[in-house]
Amino acid sequence: MSKQILEQASKLSNFGHELDHFGITRDGEKVEKLRIFHSNGLEISMINYGGIITSLKTPDRSGKIEDIVLGFDTLSEYEEKSPYFGALIGRFGNRIAKGQFSLDGNRYHLANNNEANHLHGGNRGFDKVCWNMKIGEQRDDAVSVILEYTSADGEEGYPGELKTKVTYTLTENSLKIEYHATTDAPTVLNLTHHSYFNLSGNPGQPVTDHMVQFPSEYYLPIDEHLIPLGKPEKVTDTPFDFRQPQKIKDGLHQDTENLQLQRAAGYDHTFVIKGSGEARKFAGTVWHPETGRKLEVFTSEPGMQFYTGNFLEAGMKGKGNATYQKRSGFCLETQHFPDSPNQSQFPSTVLRPGEIFTSETIYQFGILAS
Ligand code: GLA
Repeated sequence: MSKQILEQASKLSNFGHELDHFGITRDGEKVEKLRIFHSNGLEISMINYGGIITSLKTPDRSGKIEDIVLGFDTLSEYEEKSPYFGALIGRFGNRIAKGQFSLDGNRYHLANNNEANHLHGGNRGFDKVCWNMKIGEQRDDAVSVILEYTSADGEEGYPGELKTKVTYTLTENSLKIEYHATTDAPTVLNLTHHSYFNLSGNPGQPVTDHMVQFPSEYYLPIDEHLIPLGKPEKVTDTPFDFRQPQKIKDGLHQDTENLQLQRAAGYDHTFVIKGSGEARKFAGTVWHPETGRKLEVFTSEPGMQFYTGNFLEAGMKGKGNATYQKRSGFCLETQHFPDSPNQSQFPSTVLRPGEIFTSETIYQFGILAS
């Protein structure tokens, strides 16, 4: 199918966008790719399959524009082997122990798609369904894309019909993700986004040289199945203390003496975000000293899962002939705590009819002052 240019960047707007055919799913559904670009070079591409962000290009300190997320060139690769590259995650981000939980006296059984546990919504989570995608608000300083998906009652074992809306908004230096959901029966949900970043622009280079700074005083230690043990622990005197900037590599070097890092083969832990609640808060910064690229995260969520690509398959072919390996990317998944439906001391992930779930995360792209 030929490229259909819907709108060019006009004199009035700094943004342009174009819509392209991307592929046909195994079930015969048409998938489109939407590319939005700013006149300063910032550019994002997304597809309606999984709401996946397939590329995100930002300038480095010398103005060089490069792709800073991992992904594939074709739809079939996303369908067959993706470790959730760039995807929307639902109904429940991260793990639910043994794929079971009780709500209002009913016991629910979900798919155990990660050893004995349920991960990222099951066998066909929100990362593997086709969303309805359309351009939303278009302003001089921002363009939004709206993705909608209705998950049927009982889908992947979850109760209630869940109507979900996700809005991606690109500004000249940020990507905002807003989540909105309603249900017709009591249910649980934990929506997040799973981009793997590599700020070097070169995914052949592991992310271990990136610097990390998180304000979190607490993190959630995990058991051998990567399920939170239940009690947030102080980061003080552990490799989880990123209150002072630390190189990923330096933290990881402590894995011989740190059971937590051994269990996950790296970082795969929730950092507790201070002062959780409705308002958006600073969750952390990661930067790449060499290129000067900096990523700051703000969110209304109570936690952020920091994952250092520990389970990426060595030699996996990525887009543009890239070869990925363990630690080719890191994820900053803003969310409620894993296994919340079974851990009543955690902030609640229950949604009831008549309630509206909303949440917001901003990924802000910058350049280090040199
Ligand atoms: C999340 C999980 C990890 C892993 C990745 C996907 O970050 O916490 O354990 O499952 O997703 O591979």
